[in-house]
Amino acid sequence: MQQNVILGIDVGATGIKGGLVDVVNGKMLTERHRFDTPSGGKPKDMAKVVKKLVDHFEYEGAVGVGFPAVVRRGTAASAANIDDAWIGTNIEQIFAAATGNRFFALNDADAAGIASMRFGIGQPFMEDGTVLMITIGTGLGGALFVDGELMPNLEIGQIFLRNQKVIAEKFISNKVRRDNDMGWKEFGKKFNKVLSHVDGIFNPDLIILGGGASKHFLEYQKYLKAYADVKPAKLMNTAGTIGAALYAGLKVNK
Ligand code: BGC
Repeated sequence: MQQNVILGIDVGATGIKGGLVDVVNGKMLTERHRFDTPSGGKPKDMAKVVKKLVDHFEYEGAVGVGFPAVVRRGTAASAANIDDAWIGTNIEQIFAAATGNRFFALNDADAAGIASMRFGIGQPFMEDGTVLMITIGTGLGGALFVDGELMPNLEIGQIFLRNQKVIAEKFISNKVRRDNDMGWKEFGKKFNKVLSHVDGIFNPDLIILGGGASKHFLEYQKYLKAYADVKPAKLMNTAGTIGAALYAGLKVNK
């Protein structure tokens, strides 16, 4: 049976957020509900919070989950800002065991990208063009689309920039900005080093910025220099939740 309303969950290193999504038109049907990510980010503790979200919505059915790691066939293959025990853990199975629901997991930035391509500002490039999504949150996430096809698990936050000893997401992210009380000018200049670097590697037509810092795009837009058009995600912070639900919808409604 076709399932048009799906629970989308955006698992982050600091918050776990979820809401019901109409996967036909890509709209949120509820407010997003949020719980803090348990400190340490251990699999069992996070599974308990996912259960609280499922219970909150009294939801039965398939769940889509965007997860802040490389995700290969449901299994986490990295753990930059969560507990290392996640590496090799099957996300879909551990959440299914905690809740009794069926889960479909993908990288969180890939989820945000899917929503922005199908229902956001990436739409004009669904058939033709290259789009790069960068999510700016605790870490930096990346998603690349060529003619609407996703190249999954693009780990933009893990690269090294010229003359830097730390990886890109330790050099600048929304967390780095907050932790260092950084103004938008300094943030913009630092983020531009990441942006112009990846712009020159992937040469996309459009770069979409998502995650927490995308809400403040106008404050730092003037410091960004890329050949690609650079725009904030229209769906803002909800893109990850919507995209996770869309992904599960594609799997169950085949
Ligand atoms: C992870 C990515 C993730 C990004 C955004 C990074 O630390 O390595 O997989 O997409 O954070 O959450």
